[in-house]
Amino acid sequence: MKNETILVTGANGQIGTVLTQALREHYGESRVIATDIRAPQHDDPNFQTLDVLDQKALMDIAKKRGLTQIYHLAAILSAKGEQNPKWAWEVNMSGLFNVLETAREHKLRVFSPSSIAVYGGQTPKVNTPQHAVLQPETVYGISKVAGEHWSKYYFQKYGVDVRSVRYPGIVGYQSLPGGGTTDYAVDIYHYAVKEEAYPCFLAPDTRLPMMYMDDAIRATLEIMQAPAEQIKVRTSYNLAGMSFTPAEITAAIRKQRPGFDIDYEPDFRQQIAESWPESIDDSAARTDWGWKPAFDLDAMTEQMLSHLETYYQEQVNV
Ligand code: NAD
Ligand code: SER
Repeated sequence: MKNETILVTGANGQIGTVLTQALREHYGESRVIATDIRAPQHDDPNFQTLDVLDQKALMDIAKKRGLTQIYHLAAILSAKGEQNPKWAWEVNMSGLFNVLETAREHKLRVFSPSSIAVYGGQTPKVNTPQHAVLQPETVYGISKVAGEHWSKYYFQKYGVDVRSVRYPGIVGYQSLPGGGTTDYAVDIYHYAVKEEAYPCFLAPDTRLPMMYMDDAIRATLEIMQAPAEQIKVRTSYNLAGMSFTPAEITAAIRKQRPGFDIDYEPDFRQQIAESWPESIDDSAARTDWGWKPAFDLDAMTEQMLSHLETYYQEQVNV
């Protein structure tokens, strides 16, 4: 295995927290530099504060540390983005440009995730195909569409090896989400374990594509480790795990926690959710680099409830 030196941006976010750990298990603790504008929860000697808007700082780290890869996770997600669109555009676009320019100069491989938020408008909602019309209705989605095309441009013009997947909503027990529309599917498990009724900000029949964190991390490692000739989509790959509604996740939880209760209080995020696909066709990822998800709703629910049970029990015992 080649000795990689990896930098993760947005490493203290929902996905970064887990991905950084997985990369360290794979490549070695000191070879993965975690960066973010937020301080880490626990002491981390391999953490460095880095604002992705600071191109010079990014270039300096790449040179000093001899980086070979960047996993670019720093971003403003859908719900937060709608509250401050210009800021979301600035972080998502200028951050990406700084990463792409650093990669061009230092010949780095880049992972830069996109999202189901690229879809909207006339996009077919069921089994949304890889090459569907992109009509995003949020600033987040607009920035992801533009980002996908800039990534492809850097690949074609400058040979920068940028790889990407359109993550569905990611559900994990290790970290909390940071301002998305799919966040309800994480929050709901915390309420269930704490035996509190969940005030759901989406309506009961709102179906969205989702994925368990373990699958998302494995997909990320797999696409980054695949031989370059297998990566045929240089915008971003559709990626699917499962699809469900708030009513269905509630029913899955009730199989294990029969007393669990939910109240529906849809807010502005309902409109965002309604613009997104219900399910995703990820056959291009399956064919090109062998993607296959492992978790369905029941398997994820069992894992989420049992890990969060342990977590809250430990909090009580501290
Ligand atoms: P998150 O909001 O949990 O984390 C983002 C991190 O970026 C935060 O820790 C934040 O402090 C950091 N950040 C914000 N501005 C920064 C800046 N200027 N410089 C450096 N760091 C900054 O997001 P996440 O859920 O971990 O998402 C990671 C990536 O995956 C994003 O590109 C997101 O669009 C994409 N994605 C996530 C999901 C999901 O369900 N979580 C779904 C689709 C796509
Ligand atoms: N989970 C993300 C969000 O809700 C989708 O990219 O914003």
